[in-house]
Amino acid sequence: MKTANILLIGDGAIGSSYAFNLLTAGIGGSLGIIDVNAARVQGDVEDLVDALPYTGQKNIYAATYADAQYADLIVITAGVAQKPGETRLQLLQKNASIIKSITSQIMANHFDGIILVASNPVDVLTELVLQLTGLPKNHVLGSGTALDSARLRSEISRRYNVDARSVHGYIMGEHGDSEFPVWDYTTIGGQPIKQFVSGARAEQDREAIGERVKTAAYSIIEKKGATFYGIAASLTRLTAAIVNDERAAFAMSVHLDGEYGLSGVSIGVPVILGGDGLARILQLKLNPEDQKRLADSAQVLKDNLAAVL
Ligand code: 2OP
Repeated sequence: MKTANILLIGDGAIGSSYAFNLLTAGIGGSLGIIDVNAARVQGDVEDLVDALPYTGQKNIYAATYADAQYADLIVITAGVAQKPGETRLQLLQKNASIIKSITSQIMANHFDGIILVASNPVDVLTELVLQLTGLPKNHVLGSGTALDSARLRSEISRRYNVDARSVHGYIMGEHGDSEFPVWDYTTIGGQPIKQFVSGARAEQDREAIGERVKTAAYSIIEKKGATFYGIAASLTRLTAAIVNDERAAFAMSVHLDGEYGLSGVSIGVPVILGGDGLARILQLKLNPEDQKRLADSAQVLKDNLAAVL
């Protein structure tokens, strides 16, 4: 897809950070931006264009929904963000109505590409987009626990003084309070973390790491009012995997049809991501505790989806 036409819907702090990150990473072909605040889009386009002499040519423009018919990938960041102490699920009613408006305009313009959702609560909204658009389930994806998994790797890297690129592992479940680390599949340089660090301290460390990851957004929002660089970097990485057909592994929110014994929900699981979107769901052999955590998380998401369908 290399010279993908990307359409960004939502030009707030996350969307704007993502647009700039795409530019500096040299990903994709054209980038159209849509937001309810047209002046903000025009200003962002003019600002981003100023960077082109240093980042390489790209067609950046203020888009309309008519451009959806030419887009290969639509990234949705539109919606309200959490206030200090607010959960992502508390954003559902407001952001679901925004998502319904966006999806109807996308499909009215005959979009048939891939949609990557970042708006929160991202798992519920990803499933809502899938059901409203009727697009193939491999083409409607949510950033899900990609960011949480990056936080997990980063926290392990800091705590054990190893390069984060040598740490692999997943956060599964809701991108939210019911997420959980899959310690049985967390490795440092290929060595299971439970061998890398063992004993009583190791268990305390894992508890602390999991808690730090789960509460990271709350901590950042408390201090600076919002998070945007971490999620923008995750969205850029996922976009690169799609645009370059990498077939790389990530935890992200995808629709399950029996995988992990679950159906009718989009939730954070490990997948292979490539040029046609979801290439494969990786079915880890979860221990009974983790399987129950995933099932419980899925139920939370299903209950919330029912409230907006
Ligand atoms: C985050 O985890 C708020 O979902 C956003 O940074």
